[in-house]
Amino acid sequence: MITSDLNQVKTALISGDIIALPTETVYGLAANIYLDSALEKVFKLKKRPSYNPLIIHISNASILEQVAKNIPAKARELANIFWPGPLTLVLEKQDQIPDRITAGKPTVAVRVPNHPIALQLLKSLNFPLAAPSANPSGSLSPTLAEHVAQYFKEEINFILDGGPCSRGIESTIIGFENDDPILYRHGAISIEEIKKVIGPIKIKNQNGKNPSAPGMLSRHYAPKTQLKIYEDLSLALMQDLDKKIGVLSFKKNKKIKNEIPQEILSISGDLKEASKNLYAALHRLDQMNLDLIITSFFPEKDLGKTINDRLKRALKL
Ligand code: TXA
Ligand code: MG
Repeated sequence: MITSDLNQVKTALISGDIIALPTETVYGLAANIYLDSALEKVFKLKKRPSYNPLIIHISNASILEQVAKNIPAKARELANIFWPGPLTLVLEKQDQIPDRITAGKPTVAVRVPNHPIALQLLKSLNFPLAAPSANPSGSLSPTLAEHVAQYFKEEINFILDGGPCSRGIESTIIGFENDDPILYRHGAISIEEIKKVIGPIKIKNQNGKNPSAPGMLSRHYAPKTQLKIYEDLSLALMQDLDKKIGVLSFKKNKKIKNEIPQEILSISGDLKEASKNLYAALHRLDQMNLDLIITSFFPEKDLGKTINDRLKRALKL
């Protein structure tokens, strides 16, 4: 059920139920981090492999020490600037953080979400929430309560409605190796913005078999419909005349005829607006029973890097 009743949701979480929660990035599937049976439900519902750890959400940077220790100075600087907000820090875990959350790793991923409803809920609870994105493993992340309902209507009792997610794409994940910052996942905060605060940062190639953020295993963030990337979309349309094709474009592409379904992510060509609209547009295209969705790479700068990362992972191999 889609609801805006915070009290009901709070009671459900305390009693070990899992609920869907709005954040500024994407909706999450939330559970009390200290209730193993609730965490188990999250893994089961998402069909998430047990080696892929969960992100913890806390209400305030001042309680970070409850979940993490030996926090590098640069992590604190980033938290000061970007929290509440779409930045996840991977830090050494406190002893009481259950292994189920961290998949046995010595580190924990944590952030303070910047959504009034999520913050209100977190402040009313005396435990943090584990909340991976509220989608089955590998599929498109939800940016509306309705997207979550399409995936899990039968399985979860409460989907807390917070409207469309204002950032619309997952948080940027940063970890540390010997106190040196490393980018684990491109996200809603661009690498350029991060560098302005802490200087140079290493970018870990997450395409191998053993990525430092286990969720970055190759195929992910994918629509059900096949997606292909082309340099010239109008040429691509001519190649596959017998197929029902939808187009995902950055700005308006005048060469695409009006009768072809087209999702334009930002008429003014703004990468932040485009990243906000990406998943909702892919969800809509996915509902159209198309044979193929075609798109082009976005400019490889700012949030264009995050969009391109998701597009690459969405390709069917
Ligand atoms: O914006 C977001 O981060 C959203 C909202 C709901 O907060 N959450 C989200 O969760 O995207 P999820 O589980 O879909 O992606 C979290 C990523 C996964 O790739 C996971 O492997 C990685 O974070 N992760 C979690 N704990 C980690 C750890 N200890 N070390 C490295 N990576 C970790
Ligand atoms: Mg996810």
